[in-house]
Parts: sequence; structure tokens; C-alpha cells
Amino acid sequence: MAIIAPDIGIDLGTSNTLVHVRKKGIVINEPTVLVVDKTAKHAVRAIGEDARTLLGRTGGELTAVQPMSDGMIRDFEMTEYMLQYFIRKAIGVSRLVKPRAVVTIPCRMSPIERRAVRQAALYSGIRKNGLTLLEKPFAAALGCGLPVFDPVGSMVVDIGGGTTEAAVISLGGIVVSRSVRIGGSKMDEAVAAYIKRDFNMLIGDRTAEEIKIDMGAALPLKEDRKALIRGRDLITNLPQTAEISASKVYEALKPTCDAILSAIQFVLEKTPPELCSDIVRGGIHLTGGGSLLFGLDQYIATELGITVYLAKDPLSCAALGVGQLTDNYEWVHRIVKSAYLHDEADE
Ligand SMILES: Nc1ncnc2c1ncn2[C@@H]1O[C@H](COP(=O)(O)OP(=O)(O)OP(=O)(O)O)[C@@H](O)[C@H]1O
Ligand SMILES: [Mg+2]
Repeated sequence: MAIIAPDIGIDLGTSNTLVHVRKKGIVINEPTVLVVDKTAKHAVRAIGEDARTLLGRTGGELTAVQPMSDGMIRDFEMTEYMLQYFIRKAIGVSRLVKPRAVVTIPCRMSPIERRAVRQAALYSGIRKNGLTLLEKPFAAALGCGLPVFDPVGSMVVDIGGGTTEAAVISLGGIVVSRSVRIGGSKMDEAVAAYIKRDFNMLIGDRTAEEIKIDMGAALPLKEDRKALIRGRDLITNLPQTAEISASKVYEALKPTCDAILSAIQFVLEKTPPELCSDIVRGGIHLTGGGSLLFGLDQYIATELGITVYLAKDPLSCAALGVGQLTDNYEWVHRIVKSAYLHDEADE
């Protein structure tokens, strides 16, 4: 039995939670969801991947809980429970000295929201005095290999399930950032709203997400595509099928894509001129699962006239970033205060 637990990095996301273990890499990559039994006392029945398979198919006593929304903890107890489960799964339980951890947080969280993350992490088994909170775009920039400690400006836009965070980073700190509560989930909601409006039909969250991934686009399509989808008729309450078109899905997603673009524009407008010219040279780097929406990179590039690069593994960038920090813990002290916050007990 190892006495000291290895350092870990946690990307606590609205849709997915990833855990990186020092020198091992990402060992947990599961959806941020639990299934609970409303009637029982110790009610959690499944967590993560096991719970996802039940999503939308739960009924009666079983209900799915997504403890995070818009990048924030909404259900404290469930977040704690889930984190504890993932940490144990990642490093085991029998350690005398608890692990240190770097955990991602959205930009400019309120002190109360930060405290919630801190408490959840400590309750879940992180060592007191060993917790570092790191802002998501910084983690994502590190994870996709940008020179965050160099005297050049790098721009990263992390489009997750719940939030979009655009930031310009230089010399180990975030210079300008913008965090908006818009991401993949808002796109799913837009798809579901379109189908409800045009077909009087209700579809589940998973179906909406599948339609977005299969048919969604940020650019108008040259040739329209149609697909049959299944849902529940709002009037008869019976199962129904409808034929939807990709051009309508594109129209439904447009406001979300425009809001993401506005967040990026806001950051660029506030960026000092020297750093702006670095960004024009180095391009904008997209990370997070939402950046995989077809044509989003091209849409942003065309609107702004700046080259846009989609990260190699967008869903893992933030976890790879906190992972790099756990592999090289001394780097934590090279990060400028704005981008990270130590556990208060550390200060
Ligand atoms: N191919 C794809 N096309 C469009 N969207 C996708 C694709 N693959 C994944 N997504 C979306 O990416 C989102 C999840 O991304 P990610 O795991 O980066 O979010 P998160 O880190 O959990 O959330 P946040 O950082 O906002 O708290 C989901 O909304 C998912 O539907
Ligand atoms: Mg994320």
C-alpha cells in the first residue's frame, strides 16, 4: 500500500468530469450525472457512465441528477458524493496521506461559489492545504500546448456543456476573460425548442444532443439533409415520428453560436494592442466539446478574420492542463494569482 496518495487533477465539468492522476494520465472520463432513488435513504444508485445509460429511461422511483449546471455546483451533496466516488475509483481508498489536487473552476466565480467547490473537494478526500483551483481557460490553454508562461498573448475559447470561457493569456496569467453561461446544453435546448414549436413534439435531452451532433452546424449547409426523429406528441401524448431538416437545426443553433462569437469579440476588444497582434499571428484556439459543432471554427474565423484552430482532443484539454500541473507541481507557483486560487488555508 502506498502511503502518500498521488497528486490528482480534476476537470469538474457541467457535462463531463475527468480525473488525471500524476504520471498516469487521465484515468476517469465520465458524465457528470447520478441516478438516485427518491424513496430510499442512501439513495444513489449509479454514478457517471453507469448512470448515463439510465438517463431518460428512468421512471418511478429512479431519477437522474445532474449536480452541475452552467459550470456551477447546483447540488452540493451529489457533487461531493460523485467526486468521492471518482477519486476513489482513480486512486483507491487506503492511503494514509490524502492527495493534493488541482481543480478547474469557471472564470470569476463568486467567493461563495468557490467555497462550494473547495468544500466539495475537501469532503471528497482532498488533503487540506493541498487544493488549488485553476480557471478553466488557463487549464485548457496549458492542455492544448499554448506557451502560457511566455511573454506572448495566446487566446483560448473553451466551449463546454454549460459555459463558454474566452481568455487571453500571457506570462502565466489571464489578461482578459469573459465567461458566459452558454454552451452545448443551450444548443440542445434550442434543438428541443425548435422541435416542440414546429412539430408539437417533446424529445429527451439525449435525443436533442444526438440531433445536434449528427445534424447541427454553425454554417448554412450547401445541401439540406433530412432525418426522422422520434418523440412524444404533446397533444395525444403518444409516441410520434417527425422529419426534421438540417437547415432548421442550423437556424435553431444560430443564436447560441452568435452569443459565443460575442463573448470572443468582447475579449478581443478589451485586449491590449500588443497582445492582439500576437493573437492575430497565433490564432484563436478552441477547446471543450461544444467546439466540435460542425463549422463553428470556420464560422468564428470568417466573422473575425483571424485563424481559428480546433484543439486535437477538445474534450480533454482542461484535464490535460490540470494534469500537467500535477506532473509539474512547481509550476503552480509560476501562475499569476488571477488564474489560480489556493485553498484559503494555504495562504
Ligand atoms: N461532435 C460534437 N458536436 C457538437 N457538440 C458536441 C460534440 N461532442 C460533444 N459535444 C458537446 O460538448 C459538450 C460537453 O463538452 P465538455 O465535456 O467540454 O463540457 P464540460 O467541460 O462538462 O462543461 P463546462 O466546461 O461548461 O462545465 C456537450 O454539450 C456535448 O453535447
Ligand atoms: Mg469544461
